Amino acid sequence: MFEIPIRMERVLHRLKELAHCSAGKRGVTRLSFTSEFRQAGLLVRRWMKETGMVVRVDALGNIIGHYPHHRRGGPAFLIGSHLDSVMEGGAFDGTLGVVAALEVVQALFESGFQTALPLEVVVFCDEEGARFHTTLLGSRAMAGTLLGEDLNARDARGITLAEALREFGLDPLAFRSAKRDPEQIAGYMELHIEQGPILENEHLPCGVVSGIAGAVRGRFQVEGLAGHAGTVPMDARRDALVGAAEIILAVEEAARKSPSTVATVGNLQVFPGSSNVIPGRVEGTLDVRSLDDEERRRVFRQICQRAEGIAENGSLSFCCEVVLDTPAVQCSPRLMAAAAEAITRHGYPPLFIPSGAGHDALAMADLTEVGMIFVRCRGGVSHHPEEYVEPEDIEIGVSVFLEAVLRAMDSHPKAGSTGQTEEAEVP
Ligand code: GLV
Ligand code: MN
Ligand code: MN
Repeated sequence: MFEIPIRMERVLHRLKELAHCSAGKRGVTRLSFTSEFRQAGLLVRRWMKETGMVVRVDALGNIIGHYPHHRRGGPAFLIGSHLDSVMEGGAFDGTLGVVAALEVVQALFESGFQTALPLEVVVFCDEEGARFHTTLLGSRAMAGTLLGEDLNARDARGITLAEALREFGLDPLAFRSAKRDPEQIAGYMELHIEQGPILENEHLPCGVVSGIAGAVRGRFQVEGLAGHAGTVPMDARRDALVGAAEIILAVEEAARKSPSTVATVGNLQVFPGSSNVIPGRVEGTLDVRSLDDEERRRVFRQICQRAEGIAENGSLSFCCEVVLDTPAVQCSPRLMAAAAEAITRHGYPPLFIPSGAGHDALAMADLTEVGMIFVRCRGGVSHHPEEYVEPEDIEIGVSVFLEAVLRAMDSHPKAGSTGQTEEAEVP
């Protein structure tokens, strides 16, 4: 039943084509709603249409392709991932899941397969949050949890999300129309690179994701007093960067002391930013994550309290605005079982792994049950130009994913029976 062949040369070709849609020469830089992002989206839409999918783009720019051959109507099962990247990231984060979902559908078309439920490929517009520092924009819009105020988030050049959407040809005021009806959705599954070392250490090509860490992202500001670098005595200074440096060390210390939490200051801007001016203001980002929501909130509170104390000692001020707070998510037992069965049938033990990285599934969990499969990546390296997945692992991952998706649809209470369809073209 599950012997549906995938075409690896097509998968590898598409990964390569998408990797070319990049702003920089080091790795892949494809921030949301940029020209390289548009180019990648156009490629995906072309491939979807060539395959025979019915394609639409929602108000946030999420691309949705519908597979028309299913036994009967009912809620749609969604598969996909994201097309945006971090700055100087790799060619597989998100992209592998997009290409895998396209391959699943194309393989079904070519085998003339009629699925138990309607099947859709969803390609999300912004999982990383690399441009606006608020993340999961497309999946939150689809789940109905994106807020009007998120449209005011600004990128490094001061452009708001609303302006970027408009510039991209979308209507930001229509963002609520991207929300899907939970009654019409039968689940969401995603294939993604692991971005960590567990599978490699266990010598396994893929694994089942058990849950996804919750995250809080904040934008903080340390305010001091700018002044002349040559004339203000050291003990009269209110140097915002010196305060920020101490705060960053406190972030590191708080996370190290917690059994389950990681914390990162990934972006820092110094104002006015001149070599002969004492820094008067520093703006930065704070990212705190854990599978244990209570512990994550405790660490975040502790960091803020420590930062306020450090600021006070240096006659500075500190404030932190929370731009995103998403609780941890457990993957659906039904979808985990489908993934585990598919992995077992491919001859591997199903290893259950929690995800420290964020994924669109985190936001989609507010809409429907979610499941994920991880594929081994070399050295666990990700968010880096050297991110790499062996073609053999991609092949196993996509084949396992295809089977897991079919099993997941079959086990849904509203599923029709599966098999060959008369309408589908059999090559
Ligand atoms: C995305 O990769 C994230 O985990 O922030
Ligand atoms: Mn990703
Ligand atoms: Mn990522």
